[in-house]
Amino acid sequence: MDQNSTPYLDALVALAKTNPGRFHIPGHKGGAGADPGLREAVGDAALRLDFPSGVEGIDVGPDPLDLPFQQSQELAAEAWGARRSWFLVNGASGGNHAICMALAHLGDRAIVQRNVHSSVIDGLVLSGLRPTFLAPEIDDELGVAHCLTVDALEAALREQPDVVAVFAVSPTYFGAVANIGGLASVAHAHDVPLVVDESWGAHLAFSDRLPANALACGADVVLNSVHKLGGSMTQSAILHLGADEEHPDGRIDGRIVDRSVTLVESTSPSAILSVSLDAARRQNAISGPALLSETIDSLTELRQEIREIPGLDVLGKEITAAASVFAWDPLRVSIDVRGTGTTGNRIAKYMREEHDIWFELYAENVVVAVFGIGEKVAETGARLIAGLRDAVAELQTEPDDPKAPFAPPPPWGPTVMTPRAAFLGPQETVPFDDAEGRIAAESLAAYPPGVPNVLPGERLSRATLDFIADSLAHGGQVRGASDRTLSTIRVVIE
Ligand SMILES: Cc1ncc(COP(=O)(O)O)c(C=O)c1O
Repeated sequence: MDQNSTPYLDALVALAKTNPGRFHIPGHKGGAGADPGLREAVGDAALRLDFPSGVEGIDVGPDPLDLPFQQSQELAAEAWGARRSWFLVNGASGGNHAICMALAHLGDRAIVQRNVHSSVIDGLVLSGLRPTFLAPEIDDELGVAHCLTVDALEAALREQPDVVAVFAVSPTYFGAVANIGGLASVAHAHDVPLVVDESWGAHLAFSDRLPANALACGADVVLNSVHKLGGSMTQSAILHLGADEEHPDGRIDGRIVDRSVTLVESTSPSAILSVSLDAARRQNAISGPALLSETIDSLTELRQEIREIPGLDVLGKEITAAASVFAWDPLRVSIDVRGTGTTGNRIAKYMREEHDIWFELYAENVVVAVFGIGEKVAETGARLIAGLRDAVAELQTEPDDPKAPFAPPPPWGPTVMTPRAAFLGPQETVPFDDAEGRIAAESLAAYPPGVPNVLPGERLSRATLDFIADSLAHGGQVRGASDRTLSTIRVVIE
């Protein structure tokens, strides 16, 4: 296949150019009927490309395999090394929902890494899968959660062999990459497929200076949130199925995955999002090695410059010393602010207000900047350095304890019901401060980073409630709560 081609992008651009008579949705009719503010903001060219799927000869037709949409998905499968791939217009979140629904056809139990993204927990609610949660390795020095160890998975599978899948996350927010080859071998030895949420690692497949991607290491299902670092538009992602020698047709039936993807998807998926996936795939496949190499070199220099700012340090390859961390992905810069005496929250707020600089993640002791494919780090990095220098000079105080670990979330509470039973069962609303000891009926994930601190079905501890309240007080948001102000919380009636 020709990775230089973009069949879906080309087909839609060609269609828009014919100036078709648009007697179908969307009602703005290629922009003609749109509000002038929208036209000016996104441009007429974008509005002209705003088709829903279902265009004869482009994404529907008598021979689906011959259609540009399908060809583009096949090009993506080839580029990432998958057996089959699906473009997703509701993010990797939608992919996690879909894969949970697909797996629930096979049975009702799964082993789930405890620090999975909240969309996996929502997938458990939707599908009814009963999770056995497996704790990742916690780095005591840094106080951050890393990956699953192979030994922990082996022990869990021996104890709980009747599972339909193992759900793992790699890379983490901090760039820790799991031993996917080892996890896949153990899972496969128990005849269990491995699902890897590689939302943060869409770029790994495109540079031999980066850790191998999960599909290359034997994962059976992989989610890539391509919009994160891979250059496509917000909300676009890809779900891949892998295959191995023993199972050339894969361990999971593609037809069921296909049905599950459509089940959780709009019936009018936005063509622009899929077009952006088609283009991002080409960029990664053709220019990825050179672009990523440039980014990796520039980030090495950037890290050095940040380390020269008094009180700042940057996490690097040393995280691979942890048993569960097999490799490290350098495309994020995790800045350790413990030596400044101020907090990551204050630095992030100051840089937003004074320099219009926005971080992906910030907490008490860390701020994380992420870098995407094609980014000119020499330019964007200079702005970051200038902002950091000013913020630290302005906010620095004598640190109480420069060696204090990153403020880790409190230990997870015991899960006493399945997420689905807790979410759908009898429940009531109580004041947030009175919820200690009750079973949560909803999941609460302090954002960033969006890893649930509380799951539906989990008994609430004072420490967890305080941690979430503290995140909110520091400008974070909480995803999953029915009362977004968190003055109340829904709990199970026991
Ligand atoms: C590990 C992980 N999985 C899934 C998601 C959801 O991805 P999306 O934003 O594409 O829905 C995120 C988003 O932050 C994530 O960090």
